[in-house]
Formats: sequence, structure tokens, C-alpha cells
Amino acid sequence: MIRLVKGFHDILPDETTKWAFLVETARTCLERFGFREIIPPIMERTELFERGIGQVTDIVEKEMYTFEDRGGESLSLRPEATAGILRAVAEHSLLRRDSLLKLYTIGPMFRRERPSKGRFRQFFQVNAEVLGDDSPYTDTETIAAAYAIMTSIGASGLIMEINSVGCPACRPGYKQQLREYFAKYLDELCGDCRRRYDLNPLRILDCKVPRCSELANDAPIILDSLDAPCLEHFQAVQKGLDILEIPYRLEPRMVRGLDYYTRTAFEIIHSELGRSKAVGGGGRYDSLLKELGGPDVSGIGFAIGLERLSMGIADDDERFTRSIDIYVAVVGESARETAFSLVNTLRAAGIAVEARYSSTSLKGQMKVADRVGARKVIMIGDEELSRQEVTVRDMQTREQTSVRIDTIVSYLQGDKS
Ligand code: HAM
Repeated sequence: MIRLVKGFHDILPDETTKWAFLVETARTCLERFGFREIIPPIMERTELFERGIGQVTDIVEKEMYTFEDRGGESLSLRPEATAGILRAVAEHSLLRRDSLLKLYTIGPMFRRERPSKGRFRQFFQVNAEVLGDDSPYTDTETIAAAYAIMTSIGASGLIMEINSVGCPACRPGYKQQLREYFAKYLDELCGDCRRRYDLNPLRILDCKVPRCSELANDAPIILDSLDAPCLEHFQAVQKGLDILEIPYRLEPRMVRGLDYYTRTAFEIIHSELGRSKAVGGGGRYDSLLKELGGPDVSGIGFAIGLERLSMGIADDDERFTRSIDIYVAVVGESARETAFSLVNTLRAAGIAVEARYSSTSLKGQMKVADRVGARKVIMIGDEELSRQEVTVRDMQTREQTSVRIDTIVSYLQGDKS
């Protein structure tokens, strides 16, 4: 047997109703906030991610599925969606028509991380981006959209954490402070962090090696280094969240794992999965679009991981238990043909019907009806057939009614006259 690629997973038929519920709920929420769907490809030129996400990030340094195609070009499976969406916006000049764009996409991302609970090499994101507005209201509204998805889905145990990562004007001062702080502990940092110390000390705050994160806990916080415009912006975002009554907590050492962020950064944490496995995350990026060849317009966005979101919801929630309308059970050989035709007639009338044609006992068929969640069972036997009738059994009340075959569609559709 050829097995799955490590870190990849199947979404099995028993799981797809829950999955569809998550996707549809997210979609409905985002469209309510004015987002429109965009579907970029899952593969882009490697350079896009190097330039977009940043060279000194785990994603670009260690986790991309990069290969040379037969034409000798370096391509990568997308590790995230933002860079691809912004490439499409720039390439198709989408901001020329609309000065404010709200776009979302839902699909698989690929990162060659070490697989563990809630961490996969292929995972799905609901990703949303707002381009063309730098008002703090937009930050708050974007966070509100992420929050709305979570609450509509009914995910529990989630905490919204926010921070500001400053801007190119005030961040260098903070980086210097971090260097001064970590200089004392250089020998204790992991090899990666010693490199990050020179290249981008902010990344040390994100390191998962226990000693590094222990040291990071006492590092200076960026909020003390923000310049006046960044501080004002951040305070306005918090005020907005208060107005919308969205619960949050400040997490002054959260820096996010991608380099493009400026000012607002946020993560949605699951109390059980912990900070290193956030359910969602996002933030503002003020120069990413320009860097990718588009106009000098700022943006903000977020992505929610569907696998992690799914883990916070019971599997047997009635909102996504599968059910069909009718199961047609056949008793006796001569009724089989009529049953076969009736199934087709009912489906053509828009009724979801299930049936098994190989001969099994009525008891066996009732078991199947139960398993597929049929609301009603239509029983057709030779005897009923001679009267041109069927027996309809309500699976909940167990009530049975005889109905004429030629009136069955209207009977099922509620017209019992
Ligand atoms: P991110 O924090 O790298 O942000 O990923 C967002 C979410 O994707 C995570 O919170 C998590 O739920 C899910 N995720 C990431 N890696 C894995 C994995 N290996 N297995 C399972 N789930 C995972 C971004 O991707 C940014 N592009 C978000 C953004 C959009 N920022 C601005 N716009």
C-alpha cells in the first residue's frame, strides 16, 4: 500500500460535513464584512515568498517546498496566501478600479514543519486581506471579521492577543534594545537565534527552543519603543476593540513569524493548543504591496487555520451531522423496479434520497437508513405495490402512514392533501 506523505492528511467523508460547515461559515462571515473571493494558484515563483515573507524567517529558510521545474525555474508551493494575493493585486492592477479591496481565499498551504498535533505540512487557511486603508478602524474591523468567524462557528476557549510591532522608523531602536539585552546571553541562545541576533533579533522572541523563549520572557517590550504615530494608532485599535466589545489581551512580545508586519499584529490562541500553535494570526503590513511591485498602499489581513479551528469544535454538533431526507427500503423482488424509479423521481423533485438495491432484509435496510440519518423511510413491498401505495415511516416519531405512490412527492413536500 502506498501511504500518505508525512504531515499531509486526508479529510475523510465523515469529516467533510464539519469541514464544509467551517468553510461556509467563514465565507458567509467574510462576505458580510464585504470581502470578495480571489483564488490564486497554490504555486508561485520562489522569489515571491523570499521577498514577501522575508529571508530570515523559518518559513523561507526551512519550510518551503521548493523545487526546480523542468524549465529550470525555482517554484514553491505556497506556505501562506498573502504574498500570492498581493502579487495578483499588483499584476492585475486591481486597485486601479477600487481604491479599497477586501479579498479572501480559502485553500491549502504547505510548510515542511515537524508534524505534531495541530501542525501539518499541508493545512488549510481562510485568509483575508484588506488593501488601501491605513485607518485604525480598519485594523479593528479586520480583527472583528476574524472574531466573527470564530464566534459564528462557536469555537470556545479562544483568546485574542494583540500587539504593535512598530514601523521602520521606531523598530530599529527596539532591535538595538533587544541586541543589548540578548548580548548577555549569546552563549545560551540556540544556533538559529545567534544568527537572528545579527540579522533580525525580533525573531528570537518567536523561537520555540525552551531556553530562548525563557530568555525572551524578560526581554524589553516593543510598546516602550513605539514612536508617537505608532502608539496613537495602537491605542485607537484598542479603543475600537473596546467599542465593539471584542475581548483581547495585550501580548507585548508577540512578533509573528513573518517579516512583513508593521504596527498591529494579532493572534488567536486556543487555551489547549497554546501560543506556538495559534488558531489564527494576522496584522498590518504597510509596504508589502509596494515591495511586490504594486502601488504604495498599506494593508492588513489574517489567516485562520482550519485544522486548528476544527479541533476546538465537537465532531457531533447537530449543525453538521449529515442527514438525508428519505431512505427507500425495498421488500420483495417485484417492488425493486418501482423503488428504483421512485428514487429517481424523488431526487428530480429535489429530495435527498438514499437506497440500496442489492437484496438485504428490511431490518438491514433500516439500519442503513439510521446510519445515513434518514428522516423518513419509504417502504415498498409487493403487497403495498398491489395497492399502488407505499408506507412512509417517520424515523423520529416512528409513526407510519400509507401514501399513494402518485401523491408521494407532494406528500413529502408537505402537501398532505
Ligand atoms: P501564520 O500565523 O503563519 O500567518 O498562519 C496563520 C494560521 O495558519 C496559524 O494561526 C495556524 O492556524 C495555521 N497554520 C500555520 N502553520 C500551520 C501548520 N503547519 N499546520 C496547521 N496549521 C498551520 C499567515 O500565514 C499570514 N499569511 C496571515 C496573514 C494574512 N497576515 C496578513 N494577512
